[in-house]
Parts: sequence; structure tokens; C-alpha cells
Amino acid sequence: MQQLFKPNKAFAKDARIKNMCEYEELAEWAKEDYEGFWEHFAKEKLDWIKPFENVLDESNAPFVKWFDGGKLNVATQCIDRHLDSRKNKAAIIFEGDRGDKQIITYLELYYNVNRFANLLKNEFNVKKGDRVVIYMPMIPEAAYAMLACARIGAIHSVVFGGFSAEALRDRIEDADAKVVITADGAYRKGKPYMLKPVVDKALEENTPIEKVLVVQRNFEDIEWVSGRDYSYNELITSQAPVCEAEAMESEDPLFLLYTSGSTGKPKGVQHSQAGYILWAQMTMEWVFDVKENDTYWCTADIGWITGHTYIVYGPLAMGATTVMFEGVPTYPDAGRAWKMVEEYKINQFYTAPTAIRVLHKMGEDEPKKYDLNSLKVLGTVGEPIDPPAWRWYYEVVGNSQCSIVDTYWQTETGGHIISPIASATPIKPACATLPLPGIMAEILDPETGEKVEVGQKGYMCVTRPWPSQIRNVWGDEQRYKKSYYGDVKKDGKAVYFTGDGAVYDENGYITITGRTDDVINVSGHRLGTAEIEAAIKKHSNVAEVAVVGKPHDIKGEAIFAYVVLKSDNGVADEVEELKAINNTIKQEIGNIALCDDIIFAPGLPKTRSGKIMRRILRSLAKGEAITQDISTLEDPSIVAKLEALIQS
Ligand code: WT7
Repeated sequence: MQQLFKPNKAFAKDARIKNMCEYEELAEWAKEDYEGFWEHFAKEKLDWIKPFENVLDESNAPFVKWFDGGKLNVATQCIDRHLDSRKNKAAIIFEGDRGDKQIITYLELYYNVNRFANLLKNEFNVKKGDRVVIYMPMIPEAAYAMLACARIGAIHSVVFGGFSAEALRDRIEDADAKVVITADGAYRKGKPYMLKPVVDKALEENTPIEKVLVVQRNFEDIEWVSGRDYSYNELITSQAPVCEAEAMESEDPLFLLYTSGSTGKPKGVQHSQAGYILWAQMTMEWVFDVKENDTYWCTADIGWITGHTYIVYGPLAMGATTVMFEGVPTYPDAGRAWKMVEEYKINQFYTAPTAIRVLHKMGEDEPKKYDLNSLKVLGTVGEPIDPPAWRWYYEVVGNSQCSIVDTYWQTETGGHIISPIASATPIKPACATLPLPGIMAEILDPETGEKVEVGQKGYMCVTRPWPSQIRNVWGDEQRYKKSYYGDVKKDGKAVYFTGDGAVYDENGYITITGRTDDVINVSGHRLGTAEIEAAIKKHSNVAEVAVVGKPHDIKGEAIFAYVVLKSDNGVADEVEELKAINNTIKQEIGNIALCDDIIFAPGLPKTRSGKIMRRILRSLAKGEAITQDISTLEDPSIVAKLEALIQS
């Protein structure tokens, strides 16, 4: 049996969940009285404007309602209710790329968010239920924007700043948004970069956007379209510092966040008000055990769900101090992150395996140069972490004193679903361990719907609805049902399937083995191969394309494309074609989807019915020998040809 690492005793002693007995008690309670469990926490953790009447309504499953009849406001949960006891406490500590700093107290946050809310309401006529796209760098105004929307009941859709104009336009159109909030640009590695020109390009064609609000961050020159574009810096000063919070129904949508699936366009994952904020707060408290005087830092970008739940909503809902960082952890050197941990006395540090691998590679002993004694909990999220990276994180960064929480979840789950509890769960390298209390997660056999045996791979499922789960794919109920409730049935009932494979060990611990579908994970960014293929196909000389993921030391997975060109006289100029293809991807999606390898193939391995055999392509990309039967292929000789091309 593999060694388990126990939580630090001093840390566990006064934690919220002190040991596995307390964990078991909570988990049992949820199993025995599911609604009672959730009712208790919804009443204890949230401030209701109007109490809810019903805990869970699953009569129209998989469309579910939690805490129906209740009214609340998420911005109030995150700000107003802390003003009595935490008025002058730091809510957000901001560090810019160039080392500039800001500390925003809860009272300041209250005024900033209220002014922002008034601006949206009074100047732009944003109303409850309207969609607002936020295309922003990592600056405090991004958090104000999200909370301002929440305050007035507008539905925000944050689009990651690395997405291209095309990708931004698709998301604007799908959500039918009326306002974009952006910045002129920001700073990366000491230099200004621009965002507003991307917005301009996205809006060149007809879109539903009426107004663009521009936060001036780097004060570079930008175009201003009269009657459409407004400066936040100018408008904000005249806004009243108090804006009444809208009373929202529990099930009103709080936000949309677009994410990739295995087919088609990205889907707008729709989250609710009450259920989402409840679980954001509970997981912050349970998993990280953040204390009143702690300083917590999550390095994610607000463009992803981790930035929503674990930089903005979760930490603020519990009244914590959250660090927001504009830069990259490797600039100006590999000690940047550790220097910040030392300077701000960070107690919980939460990042992605890809960052851990880079920091490890760049400076094995770098953490030792800094005083990292404040650290109590280390977190990882976004992709499976490999044992060597895990060990370095544990031993060198955490000095073998900190629990590592390998938090498994997704955009759709709203918050963690499988994760160690830092103060209770004995951990082992690269293992997400156990479902959190209240989450009925099981690894099921997709054929039988039975729980799999130890060591047998199965599908990671959740068998009961939970408060922070996705409510719908924006505007597409069929896609919601099909994407999440179409694959696995337990006792004849469709259950939520995550898209990931997983396996139990002899302790009952869960290890996530990765996606079972055509979704790839590049540096923790989720991309659908279908989406990348569609982008490549826009290049006029491409006849056919297949994209697969290939293991990569730093990024986890890299993108490998097999491209069949139209010109039958072969590739005129390989370098030029490569450039042109990557340029198309850059325009259609953004730099995050650029291919590491592109092979110009004479054809693709297909069955006689024309289905591309991706399994073969994946094996070839990895350099594995092909052992499966290829005699059923339309043209078996293609495999040897591709093999030769890849090796050359
Ligand atoms: C996919 C979700 C969760 C926030 C960031 C990504 C993979 C996530 C882990 C983990 C193994 C993980 C899964 C999941 N994933 N966390 N701890 N161990 N895999 O959110 O973009 O919605 O991606 O990331 O494959 O389905 P996302």
C-alpha cells in the first residue's frame, strides 16, 4: 500500500473539519438526510432576503431547482454582510505585473462595486437578466465588474483575455449580450499588451452590443467609437456610492461561462445564484480552512471557473482576503511567486499543475531562497498532476508541512466535488481522494451503471443533483441533457457524467485518469478537438484535418494536428503552410489553441464507413507502436505512411 501523508497536527487542531471522523459524520449526514443537510447549510451560510420554501425540486430532472421561493443577492453575500465585522479588512490584495500594489478593504470594495453597479444601471441601462460580457485582464476592476452585475441581477459572461476576436464575437452572439466591459490593455512581463483592439474587431460585424465600457489600465492609444465606447475612469467618479441590491430568486442565472465540449461550439454553462454561492463558500471553508486572519492566493485567471469561484466569489463570500495577480509567476524570474508568498505571508496557495511543472523546471531550489513558513495549504487544479511535480510541491514548496489539496472539479460543477480536506484527509501523491460531504460522486461502469471495483477504470459520475451544479446550457436544453445526462444510467436513471475517467484504489480513494471524450487539456485550458479542427478547416488549402492531444512535459497535453491539404502536388512550402494554419487558429480561437505539431498527411486512417480512427492517431502522435487490428481500415497502408512521416 502506498504511503499516506497525514495533515499537519497543529493545523488540524483548530480546523473546521479536524479529522476523518468529522468528515465521515458530515458525509453520512448527507447520505441519510440529503435535503436536511443542504437545508441546514443554506440557512447557516447565506443571508436570505426572503427564506426559501423548498430545498430541492427534481420533478423536472435533469432541470433542478434548489432553495426555491428564496430571494438573496450574491454581491450582498460577498460584501455587505461583512461590513459590520470586517469593514477595514483587506478584501482584495492586488499585485500588478510590474510590482504595483493595491489593497482594497471590504468597505472600499463596497463603494467600488456600488459605483460600478450604478454606472451599468444608469449610464448603460443594464437591467436584471441582461447579459454583460467581461473581457478583462487580471485587475481589481474585473472583480468589481462581476460583483456589480451580481448586484443589479445582470448575468455576466467572462471571456478569457487570451481568446481571439472571433471567439469573443461567438460568445457575445450566443449570449445575446448588450454590453462589453473591457480594458485598453494591461501588462505582461513588464510590457503593455492590448485588449480593446480585439473588442473593436469582434464588433466590426453586426452584434447585439450597444455599449463598451473601457477601463484604462495601460493608457495606450486606442480607438474610441463615439456613442458606443466610454471610459470607466471618467464615468465612475460621478456615480453614487450606494446602489440597492436586486432581490434575486435562488434559481435566477448568476453567470454564464463558456467551455468546450467534445462537439460543436463552446457551450454557455449557466450557474444559479443561491446554490452556486453556497457551495463556493462551503468549499473555501472546508477544503482550504481559511481563517479570519489568513491571506489566500489563487493564481488562476478570472476567465476560467477557478477565477470565478476561488478568487472572487468563494473567498469574498466567506469574508477572506484574496490575492489577485496580473502577472506571470515566472516574471521577472522563477522566484516571483515565492517572493509574493513571503511578502504577503500567504497561507493558502492554489495553482495549476502546469505552473508547478514550470516553476519546478526553472528553479528546483528557488523556493528555498524565500521564507515560505506562512504556507499551510497548497492546492492544485485543472488537470491530473504527475507524482514528480506533486513531490516537489510537497517537499520543497511545502517543506513537507502542508497538505496538498488536489481539487477535482469542472466549470459545470461550480466548485470542488472530489478533493482532500486539508485539515482531515490523509493524502497521497497525485490523487483527488474522496468526494466532499454532500457530493454523491461515484465511479460507474458505463455499461451496467454499477460502481466499479478497485483498480477498474470507469466513468466519474455524480448520482444526485447538487446545489452548485450547471443548470442549463444557455439557450439549449437538449444539449444540456445530451452532454451531461446522456451517457450513464444508474438504476435506470440518467446521472451526471463529468466526461472524465477515474479509478478507485484500495482505500476507496479516487484518481482521475483524464477525459474519455475528445476534449484536450493544454496547460489547464480546456479545448475541444472539434473546435480546433473547425478552425483549421477555415484555412482554404485544408481538405481534411484531425486533431489529437499528445502528452507534454509542461503543458500536460499539446495539440497534434494531422492535416490533409487540397493541393495534390504535395506541400509547396511546409513552413508557410504551417504558419498559415497556426495563424488561422490564432484568429479563430486564440494563442492557447496553437498546434505544437502539424503533420501534412496523405490521408487519415478511416473505417470503411468513413469514421476517423482517432485512437490510432493518438498512438501515432505518442510514438507508440500500433498493435490494434488495422485490416478493417479503408486503406490500411496509411498507418505505415503516417508512422514514417512522424519519425522523419
Ligand atoms: C476538466 C475541467 C476545475 C477548474 C479548472 C478547469 C480536468 C480538473 C482536475 C484534477 C485531474 C482535473 C478534468 C475536468 N481536471 N481538475 N484535480 N485532476 N483532472 O475547469 O476547464 O472546466 O476543466 O479539467 O478533465 O473535466 P474546466
